[in-house]
Amino acid sequence: METYHDYVIKDGKFVGKFEEMYEKFEDPWTQSVQPNKYSRMAGIVHLKNIQVKSILECGCGLGYYADWIYKETNVVPKSVDISAIAIEKAKKIFPKLDFEVADICVDLEKYKEVDCIVFAEIIWYILPNLKDIFEVMKTHFKGKYLIVNQVFYKGSQKYGTEYFTNMQEFIDYVPFTLISKCEATSVSDTTIETSTMFQI
Ligand SMILES: C[S@@+](CC[C@H](N)C(=O)[O-])C[C@H]1O[C@@H](n2cnc3c(N)ncnc32)[C@H](O)[C@@H]1O
Repeated sequence: METYHDYVIKDGKFVGKFEEMYEKFEDPWTQSVQPNKYSRMAGIVHLKNIQVKSILECGCGLGYYADWIYKETNVVPKSVDISAIAIEKAKKIFPKLDFEVADICVDLEKYKEVDCIVFAEIIWYILPNLKDIFEVMKTHFKGKYLIVNQVFYKGSQKYGTEYFTNMQEFIDYVPFTLISKCEATSVSDTTIETSTMFQI
């Protein structure tokens, strides 16, 4: 049977049909229960440590992490996603938060006023654009912060292995100064949750 994964990455190949996916599936990645709590919590600890006044959350999906960030930091993040359907749903679920449609691979510069960019489980979907995105950050976000929450796989990663396969390889790939990092898993999990913070 078809699952939401078929619309994202299939057999190690990027598909990226996010709009169709949100049309067909109510709660992809079980966002409403916010799994990967270690990395999400760590991302919030990073945000609290730097006490930023403004946040851009990239790949917000249905908005559940935006809500969590707001509750913990009192900052309403500007939360963006490439899927108009996801944004429409997020606005309905969290009417007091701030959502809009944007493709982070082309629109990032528009948000240059924010103090901190959060990538919450989006890295795999923007891999070919990462170098260009880092260039935009260097030009328009110098001195500001980048927080990346990302799950890695215990030996089962099929897509993007030529870029990085664990947190340390990811850190080595990012051209910014590492400020803090957190890595966590439970013995029975097939994934490793990570959260890293860089100064751009
Ligand atoms: C794994 S979900 C993460 C959802 C949410 N951040 C969370 O942690 O629950 C990844 C999200 O990234 C969005 N996305 C993928 N490519 C994007 C892009 N280029 N710009 C903005 N959002 C994108 C997808 O539509 C999807 O909602």
